[in-house]
Amino acid sequence: MSSSEGAATGVSGVPRMAAGPSEPRGSHDEDLAGRYARVRGQSEALCEPLAIEDYGVQPMDDASPPKWHLAHTTWFFETFLLKEFATDYQAFDDRYEVLFNSYYNGIGNPYPRPRRGFLSRPTVGEVYDYRAHVDNAIAGLVTREDGEIRQRIELGLNHEQQHQELMLTDLKYNLGLNPLKPAYRQDLDREAGGSGPLKFDDYPGGILSVGAGGPFCFDNELPRHRVLLEPFALAGRLVTNAEFLEFMEDGGYESPALWLSDGWAAVCANGWKSPLYWRSQETRSQETRRQETRNQDGRNQDGGWLEYRLGGERPLVPDDPVVHVSAYEADAYARWAGCRLPTEFEWESAAAPQDPRAGNFADDRRLHPASVEWRGREGVQRRETGAGNQFYGDAWEWTSSAYGPYPGYRTPPGALGEYNGKFMSNQLVLRGGSCATPRGHVRASYRNFFYPPHRWQFSGIRLARDLA
Ligand SMILES: [Fe+2]
Repeated sequence: MSSSEGAATGVSGVPRMAAGPSEPRGSHDEDLAGRYARVRGQSEALCEPLAIEDYGVQPMDDASPPKWHLAHTTWFFETFLLKEFATDYQAFDDRYEVLFNSYYNGIGNPYPRPRRGFLSRPTVGEVYDYRAHVDNAIAGLVTREDGEIRQRIELGLNHEQQHQELMLTDLKYNLGLNPLKPAYRQDLDREAGGSGPLKFDDYPGGILSVGAGGPFCFDNELPRHRVLLEPFALAGRLVTNAEFLEFMEDGGYESPALWLSDGWAAVCANGWKSPLYWRSQETRSQETRRQETRNQDGRNQDGGWLEYRLGGERPLVPDDPVVHVSAYEADAYARWAGCRLPTEFEWESAAAPQDPRAGNFADDRRLHPASVEWRGREGVQRRETGAGNQFYGDAWEWTSSAYGPYPGYRTPPGALGEYNGKFMSNQLVLRGGSCATPRGHVRASYRNFFYPPHRWQFSGIRLARDLA
């Protein structure tokens, strides 16, 4: 799937902790069968807080219902593993080949994406039976010492992790636009911390190697190749809500000179006045607002805004990173701040020495970007070494780089060649993963991609500037 294609069981009407399996810190020795069970189980754990009614909702064309995510990730293993390598495999239902195909024209004509929410059948229970059927069959493949099979299973697991993130972002779009503002879970960490002053780190540039070099990567991270970078500087953390509020209060959304032409057209057409999920408190009672927005000094620091998070709607936290902005908003903010967005290779070269597991990921049960210093269940938590600059986790970082092929890139043969390559048009690259990404899924060379107006992903802003 493409990252923009949209990837995500128990049923309960009451949100509760999904105590699903998370990425173990020392998992390098985990065998493929164990990893398969853990990743597949995590998709179902993410659905534990859902009510049965939540499974089928498709709030917009880009956001798929949880039931569809659960079935499509299963379809991937059935189509690209079982039907090709398990000679005695009996399909669970032959009709699912069309129904849960996302966009692989080489497999057949997919069921239309905007109609995924129309499907009350198969039922949620039948989709779970489908998952169990495929898991039982995969058990016969996962221990085979066949390089192609093992590589495909690894791809299927990374694909499922992409859909786990999409399941959370699609659920947020569903719940966050509901006037009742229901929480996905009530038990998420949401303590605020500090952001500190914005500082820039200088990088000398030069001729540098970029692209994947590890044991697993997607085809769009290859081939590894050299690039020339002029000297540049990158901000040492993400842009905060308080900083973005300054842009808004300075008339940022009313100043066409700050915007790309397509961006200004999007502002006018959509009536954007703030990031997605922000809501002015003007309509709330004075007393409610006084109770909710006073800090220890009794001052209001949220600018009068509420923000919907997966834990529910709360007063805006000034020091948390701003999130759910389009590339256009990120670009306009950077211009207003006298800076620009990084290129994807500036980002990659700066982030490569850092630990890609040391950040705020979905496993951390916050499901929202965190300030550089933050307080969790166990008191003040300092970011781990290498995570203080927020390169990994928290929010995907828009870059100014068009999503295109690297020199020498060729799409893989067969229908799997449709996974990434055919989307290399009119999209921008985002880097670093988010608070909804499973820990261990991203790396320095990982390229996410979305269209510039998209705001429903956990997308944020890092500033860059030239060193003349
Ligand atoms: Fe997919």
